[in-house]
Parts: sequence; C-alpha cells; structure tokens
Amino acid sequence: MTNELLREALTLDRYPRSNTYDPQWIVDNLMGPHPLWSTEALMQVMTLEPGTRVLDLGCGTALTSIFLAREYDVDVWATDLWVDPTENWERIKEAGVADRVSPIQADAHKLPYSHGFFDAIVSIGAYNYFGTSADYLARCVDLLKPSGVLGVVVPGIQQAPNFTPPAYLAERWGPDLCTWLPPDWWRNNWERTGLVTVQTADMIPNGWQDWLLWLKTCAKVDRGYTPDEQMLEADQGNHLGLTRLVAHKQTHLL
Ligand SMILES: C[S@@+](CC[C@H](N)C(=O)[O-])C[C@H]1O[C@@H](n2cnc3c(N)ncnc32)[C@H](O)[C@@H]1O
Repeated sequence: MTNELLREALTLDRYPRSNTYDPQWIVDNLMGPHPLWSTEALMQVMTLEPGTRVLDLGCGTALTSIFLAREYDVDVWATDLWVDPTENWERIKEAGVADRVSPIQADAHKLPYSHGFFDAIVSIGAYNYFGTSADYLARCVDLLKPSGVLGVVVPGIQQAPNFTPPAYLAERWGPDLCTWLPPDWWRNNWERTGLVTVQTADMIPNGWQDWLLWLKTCAKVDRGYTPDEQMLEADQGNHLGLTRLVAHKQTHLL
C-alpha cells in the first residue's frame, strides 16, 4: 500500500490534527488503537493551556507526547515502562520537539516526580494496565497542582463488569479484558474517593468503528492485530469501544 493510499484510508474529518501526521510513522510505532485519534478525541473535551506541564503516563512510543507538544504547545514528560527511553528520545528529536518533550522510563507505581508538579496528566491506552485499583487515583492526584486535570482514554466495554459476554468475547476472555471497563464504572470509582470531580465519562463517538478501521488498515501493511480485529468485527459496536475520562482535582486539595 502506498503512503498516499494509507493516508487516504486513515484520514477522518473528525480528527483534522491527526490527519496532518505521516500515517506510515504512526503505523510503524503502533502499540494499540490509533494513538493520535484517541488523544485528539480526548482533547475535544479537555483543555491544556499552552506552556503547562503534562505527564504522558504510559506513553509507549511517545507519539502521543509529540502530538501534545506540537498541537497544544505544552511541555511533556513522556513516561513509559516497556519502551526504551533512548528510542523515544530519537523519535522526539526527529519530530522537532526536543525542547518540549522529555523521555523517562518509570513504573506508574513508582513515579519519580514531585508532589504538585504537573498541570495535567494524560494517559492513552495505558491506564487500565495499572490504574484500576481504587487507590491508584491518589497517586495521580498527588502529582497534580491544585485544580489539575487528569484525562484518560482506555479500551472499554459499555456493559457493567458482571455482564455475560457473548461467545466472541468469551473466547478471548481473560484478565486483560476484565480491565476494559465502562465509563460509569470509572466515574463511580473515581468520585467515591472524594479526590476529583469527574467532568466527562463517556465512550468516544465512533470509537469502535475507528478502532476497527485502524486495525483493518494496519493489517493491509502487515501490522494489524488479528484477534482484536475479529473481536471488533463480530461486536459491531454493541459492547466494545474506547472509554474517555476527564477529571479535575478537587479544589480544596493542595
Ligand atoms: C497499549 S500500550 C499504549 C502506548 C501508547 N500510549 C499508545 O497509545 O500507543 C500500553 C503502554 O502502557 C505502558 N505500561 C504498562 N504498565 C505500565 C506501568 N506499570 N508503568 C508505566 N507504563 C506502563 C506500557 O509500557 C505500554 O507502552
């Protein structure tokens, strides 16, 4: 598939900022659903002021960090466990944002940052790996300034966690799918801590459809992930999608 056809396949009117990036670069560095679409969808309901400090938590190959720095003019700490920070640094320099993005290797459970350092935390396709316990939110809130904001996009299943999965989900069921949770689950889990006010907890419009388009297109250039593609195809948007969350640190917390 030529770069032109790849661009055509991955151009969506609802993501004008993502459309300006080289699709081959995005495909070559993929780790999950299209990372720029997820980030742009998050930013449609979340505001980052220029010049503020952002923690990109579980940034993977740092595409989301580069996108945040270039599009929203923020300083980003690109933090990830599995991906070599030197590889991320090369990508960051090549993207021309070395003055705004810092690559850090760290475990989300042992983050090397100061209390109250960040204006915002963004986490795309990663928070479900480490953030489903009720007390994890406290770690994030601790790193935020007063009134700081946390924005998350994660794979989600729209039904309550105790639903009976249809056959195509049951076949692939395991602990990872248990962390694909609906917006209301996250809202309740976060609000009952008393640490944040949840502004948004929804499924990204067209999330299922766009995720499937992404996987099908990646498959055409031998980069897809067939089990997820088959599962999304069978689902037709009845259960699966991308959960989107935005929460503000309670104003009385320092
Ligand atoms: C599916 S990838 C998504 C990466 C990227 N945000 C994206 O959208 O392409 C999940 C990421 O979560 C990170 N991750 C998982 N557990 C982590 C932990 N305990 N601390 C920090 N990062 C973690 C992994 O290193 C991985 O890069």
